Amino acid sequence: MAELSIDRFVDLYAARTAGMSASEVRALFAVASRPDVVSLAGGMPNVQALPSEDVLAAVSNAMDEYGVTTLQYGGGQGHVALRQRLVGLMAEEGVGADPDDVVVTTGAQQALDLLGKIFIDPGDLIAVEAPAYVGALTAFGAYQPRYLQIDLDDDGMIVEQLEEALVQGARPKFVYTVPNFGNPAGVTMSATRRERLAALCRGASIPIIEDNPYGMLRFEGQSLSCLRAMAPDNVIYVGTVSKVFSPGVRVGWALAEQSVVQRLVLAKEAADLCSSSFNMLVTERYLSGERWRRNLETLIDAYRSGRDSMLEALAEHFPPESTWTRPAGGFFVWVTLPRWVDTQTMLAAAVERRVAYVPGTAFYPEGRGTNQMRLAFCFPTVDRIREGVGRSCPTKPSSTGHCTHEGRGAGRRTQPRARRLAPIRTPGATGACPARP
Ligand SMILES: Cc1ncc(COP(=O)(O)O)c(C=O)c1O
Repeated sequence: MAELSIDRFVDLYAARTAGMSASEVRALFAVASRPDVVSLAGGMPNVQALPSEDVLAAVSNAMDEYGVTTLQYGGGQGHVALRQRLVGLMAEEGVGADPDDVVVTTGAQQALDLLGKIFIDPGDLIAVEAPAYVGALTAFGAYQPRYLQIDLDDDGMIVEQLEEALVQGARPKFVYTVPNFGNPAGVTMSATRRERLAALCRGASIPIIEDNPYGMLRFEGQSLSCLRAMAPDNVIYVGTVSKVFSPGVRVGWALAEQSVVQRLVLAKEAADLCSSSFNMLVTERYLSGERWRRNLETLIDAYRSGRDSMLEALAEHFPPESTWTRPAGGFFVWVTLPRWVDTQTMLAAAVERRVAYVPGTAFYPEGRGTNQMRLAFCFPTVDRIREGVGRSCPTKPSSTGHCTHEGRGAGRRTQPRARRLAPIRTPGATGACPARP
Protein backbone atom coordinates (compact mmCIF):
# COMPACT_ATOMS: atom_id res chain seq x y z
CA MET A 1 0.00 0.00 0.00
CA ALA A 2 1.32 3.49 -0.82
CA GLU A 3 2.46 5.50 2.20
CA LEU A 4 0.64 8.70 2.96
CA SER A 5 2.87 11.70 2.39
CA ILE A 6 2.50 15.46 2.44
CA ASP A 7 2.36 16.99 -1.02
CA ARG A 8 5.24 19.46 -1.12
CA PHE A 9 3.81 21.11 -4.21
CA VAL A 10 0.32 21.66 -2.90
CA ASP A 11 0.56 25.46 -3.22
CA LEU A 12 2.04 25.33 -6.68
CA TYR A 13 -0.62 23.62 -8.75
CA ALA A 14 -2.69 25.66 -11.17
CA ALA A 15 -6.20 26.50 -10.01
CA ARG A 16 -7.64 24.43 -12.86
CA THR A 17 -6.37 21.20 -11.27
CA ALA A 18 -9.03 21.61 -8.59
CA GLY A 19 -11.53 20.48 -11.22
CA MET A 20 -9.48 17.39 -12.03
CA SER A 21 -9.92 15.41 -8.81
CA ALA A 22 -11.16 11.85 -9.24
CA SER A 23 -14.30 10.63 -7.55
CA GLU A 24 -14.39 7.47 -5.49
CA VAL A 25 -16.14 5.86 -8.43
CA ARG A 26 -12.80 5.68 -10.21
CA ALA A 27 -11.53 3.24 -7.59
CA LEU A 28 -14.49 0.99 -8.28
CA PHE A 29 -13.53 0.68 -11.92
CA ALA A 30 -10.53 -1.41 -10.87
CA VAL A 31 -12.92 -3.73 -9.05
CA ALA A 32 -15.27 -3.72 -12.03
CA SER A 33 -12.60 -5.27 -14.21
CA ARG A 34 -12.42 -8.37 -11.99
CA PRO A 35 -13.65 -11.38 -13.98
CA ASP A 36 -16.25 -12.29 -11.35
CA VAL A 37 -17.83 -8.82 -11.54
CA VAL A 38 -20.40 -8.11 -14.26
CA SER A 39 -19.44 -4.68 -15.47
CA LEU A 40 -22.36 -2.61 -16.67
CA ALA A 41 -20.14 0.39 -15.95
CA GLY A 42 -17.64 1.12 -18.72
CA GLY A 43 -18.67 1.78 -22.31
CA MET A 44 -16.14 -0.65 -23.70
CA PRO A 45 -16.66 -1.73 -27.30
CA ASN A 46 -16.89 -5.45 -27.94
CA VAL A 47 -13.50 -5.69 -29.62
CA GLN A 48 -13.38 -9.46 -29.12
CA ALA A 49 -15.80 -9.65 -32.03
CA LEU A 50 -13.20 -8.18 -34.43
CA PRO A 51 -11.51 -10.93 -36.44
CA SER A 52 -7.83 -10.61 -35.63
CA GLU A 53 -6.93 -11.59 -39.21
CA ASP A 54 -8.67 -8.43 -40.45
CA VAL A 55 -6.65 -6.30 -38.08
CA LEU A 56 -3.42 -8.08 -39.01
CA ALA A 57 -4.24 -7.58 -42.70
CA ALA A 58 -4.69 -3.85 -42.06
CA VAL A 59 -1.31 -3.68 -40.30
CA SER A 60 0.40 -5.57 -43.09
CA ASN A 61 -1.31 -3.46 -45.80
CA ALA A 62 -0.28 -0.28 -44.02
CA MET A 63 3.36 -1.39 -43.98
CA ASP A 64 3.20 -2.40 -47.66
CA GLU A 65 1.40 0.73 -48.77
CA TYR A 66 3.04 3.39 -46.62
CA GLY A 67 6.38 1.84 -45.62
CA VAL A 68 8.41 3.80 -43.10
CA THR A 69 5.91 6.65 -43.15
CA THR A 70 3.96 4.52 -40.67
CA LEU A 71 6.87 4.78 -38.25
CA GLN A 72 7.58 8.49 -38.68
CA TYR A 73 6.13 11.70 -37.23
CA GLY A 74 3.37 13.16 -39.35
CA GLY A 75 1.79 16.60 -39.71
CA GLY A 76 -0.37 17.96 -36.89
CA GLN A 77 -3.54 17.73 -38.97
CA GLY A 78 -3.17 13.99 -39.61
CA HIS A 79 -2.37 11.92 -42.70
CA VAL A 80 -4.35 13.04 -45.71
CA ALA A 81 -5.13 9.45 -46.75
CA LEU A 82 -6.90 8.93 -43.46
CA ARG A 83 -8.66 12.28 -43.63
CA GLN A 84 -10.01 11.30 -47.05
CA ARG A 85 -11.23 8.01 -45.63
CA LEU A 86 -12.94 9.82 -42.74
CA VAL A 87 -14.64 12.14 -45.22
CA GLY A 88 -16.07 8.97 -46.84
CA LEU A 89 -17.28 7.75 -43.45
CA MET A 90 -19.01 11.04 -42.71
CA ALA A 91 -20.64 11.00 -46.16
CA GLU A 92 -22.39 7.79 -45.09
CA GLU A 93 -24.03 9.82 -42.33
CA GLY A 94 -25.00 12.56 -44.77
CA VAL A 95 -22.21 14.94 -43.82
CA GLY A 96 -20.35 16.53 -46.71
CA ALA A 97 -16.75 17.49 -45.93
CA ASP A 98 -13.40 18.41 -47.38
CA PRO A 99 -10.29 16.60 -46.03
CA ASP A 100 -8.71 20.04 -45.47
CA ASP A 101 -11.38 20.74 -42.85
CA VAL A 102 -10.62 17.60 -40.86
CA VAL A 103 -8.16 17.42 -37.96
CA VAL A 104 -7.25 13.92 -36.80
CA THR A 105 -7.06 13.68 -33.02
CA THR A 106 -6.08 11.10 -30.43
CA GLY A 107 -9.64 9.82 -30.06
CA ALA A 108 -12.69 12.05 -29.97
CA GLN A 109 -11.67 12.75 -26.39
CA GLN A 110 -8.72 14.83 -27.52
CA ALA A 111 -10.92 16.75 -29.93
CA LEU A 112 -13.13 17.71 -26.96
CA ASP A 113 -10.11 18.74 -24.93
CA LEU A 114 -8.67 20.83 -27.76
CA LEU A 115 -12.04 22.48 -28.37
CA GLY A 116 -12.20 23.34 -24.68
CA LYS A 117 -8.70 24.75 -24.93
CA ILE A 118 -9.45 27.03 -27.88
CA PHE A 119 -12.90 28.21 -26.77
CA ILE A 120 -13.10 28.33 -22.97
CA ASP A 121 -11.68 31.01 -20.70
CA PRO A 122 -12.19 30.56 -16.95
CA GLY A 123 -15.74 31.52 -16.03
CA ASP A 124 -17.13 31.24 -19.57
CA LEU A 125 -20.58 29.77 -19.90
CA ILE A 126 -20.98 26.63 -22.00
CA ALA A 127 -24.21 24.73 -22.64
CA VAL A 128 -24.23 20.98 -22.06
CA GLU A 129 -26.89 18.32 -21.91
CA ALA A 130 -28.02 17.20 -18.47
CA PRO A 131 -26.97 14.45 -18.03
CA ALA A 132 -23.82 14.88 -20.15
CA TYR A 133 -20.96 12.64 -21.30
CA VAL A 134 -18.63 12.48 -18.32
CA GLY A 135 -15.51 12.69 -20.50
CA ALA A 136 -16.71 15.98 -21.96
CA LEU A 137 -17.30 17.38 -18.49
CA THR A 138 -13.79 16.27 -17.57
CA ALA A 139 -12.24 17.75 -20.72
CA PHE A 140 -14.12 21.06 -20.58
CA GLY A 141 -13.89 21.21 -16.77
CA ALA A 142 -10.13 21.68 -16.91
CA TYR A 143 -10.73 25.06 -18.56
CA GLN A 144 -13.01 26.18 -15.72
CA PRO A 145 -16.28 26.98 -17.44
CA ARG A 146 -19.67 27.61 -15.88
CA TYR A 147 -22.39 25.32 -17.13
CA LEU A 148 -25.77 25.99 -18.59
CA GLN A 149 -27.40 22.58 -18.24
CA ILE A 150 -30.13 21.72 -20.69
CA ASP A 151 -32.33 18.82 -19.70
CA LEU A 152 -32.98 15.81 -21.88
CA ASP A 153 -36.15 13.87 -22.50
CA ASP A 154 -36.92 10.97 -24.83
CA ASP A 155 -36.43 13.31 -27.81
CA GLY A 156 -33.00 14.48 -26.72
CA MET A 157 -32.02 17.96 -25.61
CA ILE A 158 -35.02 20.11 -24.69
CA VAL A 159 -34.12 22.91 -27.06
CA GLU A 160 -36.89 25.16 -25.69
CA GLN A 161 -34.89 25.43 -22.45
CA LEU A 162 -31.89 26.70 -24.36
CA GLU A 163 -34.06 29.12 -26.27
CA GLU A 164 -35.51 30.45 -23.03
CA ALA A 165 -32.03 30.86 -21.53
CA LEU A 166 -30.90 32.82 -24.60
CA VAL A 167 -33.96 35.05 -24.36
CA GLN A 168 -33.00 35.73 -20.75
CA GLY A 169 -29.56 36.84 -21.85
CA ALA A 170 -27.41 33.70 -21.49
CA ARG A 171 -24.62 33.60 -24.09
CA PRO A 172 -22.85 30.23 -23.98
CA LYS A 173 -19.57 29.97 -25.88
CA PHE A 174 -20.88 26.77 -27.46
CA VAL A 175 -23.52 24.08 -27.12
CA TYR A 176 -22.27 20.53 -26.68
CA THR A 177 -24.53 17.63 -27.65
CA VAL A 178 -24.41 13.90 -28.41
CA PRO A 179 -27.54 13.70 -30.57
CA ASN A 180 -27.41 10.01 -31.53
CA PHE A 181 -27.91 7.38 -28.80
CA GLY A 182 -26.22 9.68 -26.34
CA ASN A 183 -23.85 8.84 -23.57
CA PRO A 184 -25.14 8.44 -20.86
CA ALA A 185 -28.87 8.69 -21.59
CA GLY A 186 -29.12 6.59 -24.77
CA VAL A 187 -31.70 8.98 -26.22
CA THR A 188 -31.73 10.44 -29.75
CA MET A 189 -32.56 14.02 -30.62
CA SER A 190 -35.71 14.19 -32.76
CA ALA A 191 -35.64 15.69 -36.27
CA THR A 192 -37.74 18.66 -35.13
CA ARG A 193 -35.40 19.41 -32.23
CA ARG A 194 -32.38 19.14 -34.52
CA GLU A 195 -33.83 21.66 -36.93
CA ARG A 196 -34.75 23.97 -34.10
CA LEU A 197 -31.35 23.71 -32.42
CA ALA A 198 -29.44 24.20 -35.66
CA ALA A 199 -31.50 27.28 -36.57
CA LEU A 200 -31.42 28.75 -33.06
CA CYS A 201 -27.65 28.47 -32.69
CA ARG A 202 -27.01 29.59 -36.25
CA GLY A 203 -29.13 32.68 -35.63
CA ALA A 204 -27.37 33.45 -32.36
CA SER A 205 -23.88 32.64 -33.75
CA ILE A 206 -23.30 30.07 -31.02
CA PRO A 207 -21.32 27.11 -32.38
CA ILE A 208 -22.62 23.61 -31.75
CA ILE A 209 -20.22 20.79 -30.95
CA GLU A 210 -21.89 17.67 -32.32
CA ASP A 211 -20.23 14.60 -30.82
CA ASN A 212 -21.26 11.53 -32.80
CA PRO A 213 -19.43 8.37 -31.73
CA TYR A 214 -22.50 6.13 -31.90
CA GLY A 215 -24.28 7.31 -35.06
CA MET A 216 -23.34 4.20 -37.07
CA LEU A 217 -24.55 1.86 -34.33
CA ARG A 218 -28.27 2.09 -35.11
CA PHE A 219 -30.37 -0.97 -34.20
CA GLU A 220 -33.61 0.11 -35.81
CA GLY A 221 -35.45 3.02 -37.44
CA GLN A 222 -34.30 5.66 -39.87
CA SER A 223 -31.12 7.71 -39.48
CA LEU A 224 -31.70 11.37 -38.78
CA SER A 225 -29.82 14.21 -40.37
CA CYS A 226 -26.67 15.30 -38.55
CA LEU A 227 -26.63 18.86 -37.18
CA ARG A 228 -23.51 19.49 -39.22
CA ALA A 229 -25.48 18.77 -42.42
CA MET A 230 -28.09 21.32 -41.35
CA ALA A 231 -25.71 24.17 -40.54
CA PRO A 232 -22.22 23.34 -41.83
CA ASP A 233 -20.75 26.74 -40.99
CA ASN A 234 -21.96 26.67 -37.39
CA VAL A 235 -21.41 23.07 -36.31
CA ILE A 236 -18.15 21.45 -35.27
CA TYR A 237 -18.53 17.75 -35.83
CA VAL A 238 -16.55 15.31 -33.68
CA GLY A 239 -16.12 11.70 -34.79
CA THR A 240 -14.20 8.60 -33.76
CA VAL A 241 -13.41 5.11 -34.99
CA SER A 242 -13.54 3.80 -31.42
CA LYS A 243 -16.99 2.28 -31.80
CA VAL A 244 -16.83 1.16 -35.44
CA PHE A 245 -13.29 -0.23 -35.30
CA SER A 246 -11.21 0.01 -32.14
CA PRO A 247 -10.74 2.43 -29.25
CA GLY A 248 -7.19 1.06 -28.93
CA VAL A 249 -5.99 2.86 -32.05
CA ARG A 250 -7.12 6.19 -30.54
CA VAL A 251 -8.23 7.73 -33.80
CA GLY A 252 -10.83 10.48 -33.68
CA TRP A 253 -11.33 13.72 -35.54
CA ALA A 254 -12.95 17.12 -35.70
CA LEU A 255 -14.54 18.63 -38.79
CA ALA A 256 -14.78 22.41 -38.63
CA GLU A 257 -14.42 25.72 -40.38
CA GLN A 258 -10.86 26.65 -41.42
CA SER A 259 -10.52 29.27 -38.66
CA VAL A 260 -11.28 26.58 -36.07
CA VAL A 261 -9.16 23.97 -37.87
CA GLN A 262 -6.09 26.21 -37.75
CA ARG A 263 -6.46 26.76 -34.01
CA LEU A 264 -7.09 23.09 -33.40
CA VAL A 265 -3.94 22.11 -35.29
CA LEU A 266 -1.86 24.56 -33.24
CA ALA A 267 -3.38 23.25 -30.01
CA LYS A 268 -2.88 19.67 -31.16
CA GLU A 269 0.78 20.24 -32.00
CA ALA A 270 1.31 21.76 -28.57
CA ALA A 271 -0.32 18.74 -26.95
CA ASP A 272 1.31 15.84 -28.80
CA LEU A 273 2.81 17.07 -32.11
CA CYS A 274 0.70 14.61 -34.09
CA SER A 275 -1.34 11.47 -33.68
CA SER A 276 0.37 8.11 -34.15
CA SER A 277 1.20 7.63 -37.86
CA PHE A 278 1.08 3.87 -37.39
CA ASN A 279 -2.41 3.90 -35.90
CA MET A 280 -3.72 6.42 -38.41
CA LEU A 281 -2.50 4.44 -41.41
CA VAL A 282 -3.61 1.06 -40.04
CA THR A 283 -7.04 2.61 -39.49
CA GLU A 284 -7.03 3.97 -43.03
CA ARG A 285 -6.30 0.48 -44.38
CA TYR A 286 -8.88 -1.18 -42.10
CA LEU A 287 -11.57 1.16 -43.44
CA SER A 288 -10.46 0.70 -47.05
CA GLY A 289 -12.06 -2.66 -47.80
CA GLU A 290 -15.53 -4.05 -47.29
CA ARG A 291 -14.79 -6.47 -44.47
CA TRP A 292 -15.06 -3.80 -41.81
CA ARG A 293 -18.72 -3.33 -42.78
CA ARG A 294 -19.47 -6.98 -42.10
CA ASN A 295 -17.65 -6.67 -38.79
CA LEU A 296 -19.71 -3.61 -37.96
CA GLU A 297 -22.93 -5.51 -38.70
CA THR A 298 -21.79 -8.24 -36.33
CA LEU A 299 -21.12 -5.62 -33.63
CA ILE A 300 -24.50 -3.97 -34.16
CA ASP A 301 -26.27 -7.34 -33.85
CA ALA A 302 -24.42 -8.05 -30.61
CA TYR A 303 -25.23 -4.62 -29.15
CA ARG A 304 -28.88 -4.95 -30.15
CA SER A 305 -29.09 -8.29 -28.34
CA GLY A 306 -27.38 -6.70 -25.33
CA ARG A 307 -29.90 -3.86 -25.33
CA ASP A 308 -32.85 -6.26 -25.57
CA SER A 309 -31.57 -8.42 -22.79
CA MET A 310 -31.00 -5.39 -20.57
CA LEU A 311 -34.47 -3.96 -21.17
CA GLU A 312 -36.09 -7.32 -20.44
CA ALA A 313 -34.10 -7.72 -17.24
CA LEU A 314 -34.95 -4.20 -16.09
CA ALA A 315 -38.65 -4.88 -16.59
CA GLU A 316 -38.30 -8.07 -14.61
CA HIS A 317 -36.22 -6.86 -11.71
CA PHE A 318 -36.45 -3.14 -11.11
CA PRO A 319 -38.89 -1.38 -8.76
CA PRO A 320 -42.16 -0.32 -10.39
CA GLU A 321 -41.54 3.42 -9.98
CA SER A 322 -38.31 3.21 -11.99
CA THR A 323 -38.09 4.54 -15.52
CA TRP A 324 -35.47 3.94 -18.14
CA THR A 325 -34.70 4.93 -21.68
CA ARG A 326 -35.03 2.62 -24.68
CA PRO A 327 -32.03 3.33 -26.91
CA ALA A 328 -32.38 2.70 -30.64
CA GLY A 329 -28.60 2.28 -30.88
CA GLY A 330 -25.36 2.85 -29.03
CA PHE A 331 -24.29 1.44 -25.68
CA PHE A 332 -26.31 2.81 -22.78
CA VAL A 333 -29.56 2.70 -20.87
CA TRP A 334 -30.25 5.48 -18.37
CA VAL A 335 -32.25 4.48 -15.33
CA THR A 336 -34.10 6.78 -12.95
CA LEU A 337 -34.96 5.08 -9.70
CA PRO A 338 -37.35 6.01 -6.90
CA ARG A 339 -36.24 8.92 -4.71
CA TRP A 340 -35.29 6.61 -1.83
CA VAL A 341 -32.45 5.15 -3.87
CA ASP A 342 -28.95 6.65 -3.72
CA THR A 343 -27.03 4.94 -6.50
CA GLN A 344 -23.66 6.18 -5.28
CA THR A 345 -24.10 4.80 -1.77
CA MET A 346 -25.54 1.62 -3.25
CA LEU A 347 -22.53 1.01 -5.49
CA ALA A 348 -20.22 -0.53 -2.89
CA ALA A 349 -22.89 -3.08 -1.98
CA ALA A 350 -23.53 -3.73 -5.68
CA VAL A 351 -19.85 -4.47 -6.22
CA GLU A 352 -20.01 -6.92 -3.33
CA ARG A 353 -22.82 -8.59 -5.24
CA ARG A 354 -20.40 -8.62 -8.20
CA VAL A 355 -21.93 -6.01 -10.43
CA ALA A 356 -20.82 -2.47 -11.31
CA TYR A 357 -22.56 0.49 -12.92
CA VAL A 358 -21.94 4.24 -13.00
CA PRO A 359 -23.99 6.33 -10.55
CA GLY A 360 -25.93 9.22 -12.08
CA THR A 361 -24.04 11.93 -10.20
CA ALA A 362 -21.00 11.40 -12.42
CA PHE A 363 -22.88 12.91 -15.37
CA TYR A 364 -23.78 16.28 -13.93
CA PRO A 365 -21.28 19.04 -13.21
CA GLU A 366 -22.57 19.63 -9.72
CA GLY A 367 -23.59 16.14 -8.70
CA ARG A 368 -27.31 15.83 -9.36
CA GLY A 369 -28.62 12.41 -10.32
CA THR A 370 -28.38 10.64 -6.96
CA ASN A 371 -31.25 8.31 -7.89
CA GLN A 372 -30.02 7.67 -11.43
CA MET A 373 -27.57 5.25 -13.00
CA ARG A 374 -26.03 4.46 -16.35
CA LEU A 375 -26.03 0.84 -17.45
CA ALA A 376 -23.88 -0.22 -20.40
CA PHE A 377 -24.96 -3.23 -22.48
CA CYS A 378 -22.02 -3.18 -24.91
CA PHE A 379 -19.55 -5.53 -23.27
CA PRO A 380 -20.93 -8.48 -21.27
CA THR A 381 -22.74 -11.42 -22.88
CA VAL A 382 -26.54 -11.33 -22.84
CA ASP A 383 -26.65 -13.82 -19.96
CA ARG A 384 -24.20 -11.78 -17.93
CA ILE A 385 -26.23 -8.65 -18.66
CA ARG A 386 -29.35 -10.33 -17.34
CA GLU A 387 -27.48 -11.50 -14.25
CA GLY A 388 -25.90 -8.09 -13.75
CA VAL A 389 -29.17 -6.18 -13.98
CA GLY A 390 -30.73 -8.54 -11.46
CA ARG A 391 -27.86 -7.94 -9.07
CA SER A 392 -27.88 -4.17 -9.54
CA CYS A 393 -31.53 -3.86 -8.52
CA PRO A 394 -31.64 -1.51 -5.52
CA THR A 395 -32.15 -2.99 -2.11
CA LYS A 396 -35.26 -1.55 -0.59
CA PRO A 397 -35.45 0.27 2.70
CA SER A 398 -37.71 -1.80 4.95
CA SER A 399 -40.85 0.38 4.65
CA THR A 400 -41.23 0.70 0.87
CA GLY A 401 -42.31 -2.79 -0.07
CA HIS A 402 -40.41 -2.77 -3.35
CA CYS A 403 -38.10 -5.33 -4.84
CA THR A 404 -34.86 -6.41 -3.32
CA HIS A 405 -31.92 -7.54 -5.38
CA GLU A 406 -32.90 -11.12 -4.58
CA GLY A 407 -36.35 -10.31 -5.90
CA ARG A 408 -36.08 -12.05 -9.26
CA GLY A 409 -39.38 -13.10 -10.64
CA ALA A 410 -40.94 -9.99 -9.12
CA GLY A 411 -43.00 -10.09 -12.29
CA ARG A 412 -42.57 -8.49 -15.68
CA ARG A 413 -44.26 -5.23 -16.28
CA THR A 414 -44.62 -2.80 -19.10
CA GLN A 415 -41.65 -0.55 -19.48
CA PRO A 416 -42.63 2.93 -18.33
CA ARG A 417 -41.94 5.77 -20.73
CA ALA A 418 -39.20 7.99 -19.42
CA ARG A 419 -40.28 11.61 -19.25
CA ARG A 420 -37.83 14.38 -18.47
CA LEU A 421 -34.56 12.80 -17.46
CA ALA A 422 -33.36 15.42 -15.02
CA PRO A 423 -34.53 18.46 -13.07
CA ILE A 424 -34.25 22.08 -14.21
CA ARG A 425 -30.82 23.38 -15.16
CA THR A 426 -28.57 25.00 -12.60
CA PRO A 427 -25.22 26.37 -13.71
CA GLY A 428 -22.62 25.14 -11.26
CA ALA A 429 -18.99 24.43 -10.60
CA THR A 430 -16.90 21.69 -12.14
CA GLY A 431 -17.57 18.31 -10.59
CA ALA A 432 -15.27 15.43 -9.84
CA CYS A 433 -15.89 12.77 -12.42
CA PRO A 434 -14.18 9.56 -13.45
CA ALA A 435 -12.48 10.09 -16.80
CA ARG A 436 -14.03 6.99 -18.34
CA PRO A 437 -16.21 6.56 -21.39
C1 LIG B 1 -20.01 10.76 -26.26
C2 LIG B 1 -18.58 10.38 -26.34
N1 LIG B 1 -17.71 11.25 -26.84
C3 LIG B 1 -16.40 10.96 -26.93
C4 LIG B 1 -15.92 9.74 -26.49
C5 LIG B 1 -14.45 9.47 -26.58
O1 LIG B 1 -14.19 8.56 -27.59
P1 LIG B 1 -12.72 8.22 -28.06
O2 LIG B 1 -12.49 6.81 -27.71
O3 LIG B 1 -12.74 8.42 -29.53
O4 LIG B 1 -11.78 9.15 -27.39
C6 LIG B 1 -16.80 8.80 -25.97
C7 LIG B 1 -16.30 7.52 -25.48
O5 LIG B 1 -16.99 6.67 -25.04
C8 LIG B 1 -18.17 9.12 -25.89
O6 LIG B 1 -19.06 8.27 -25.40
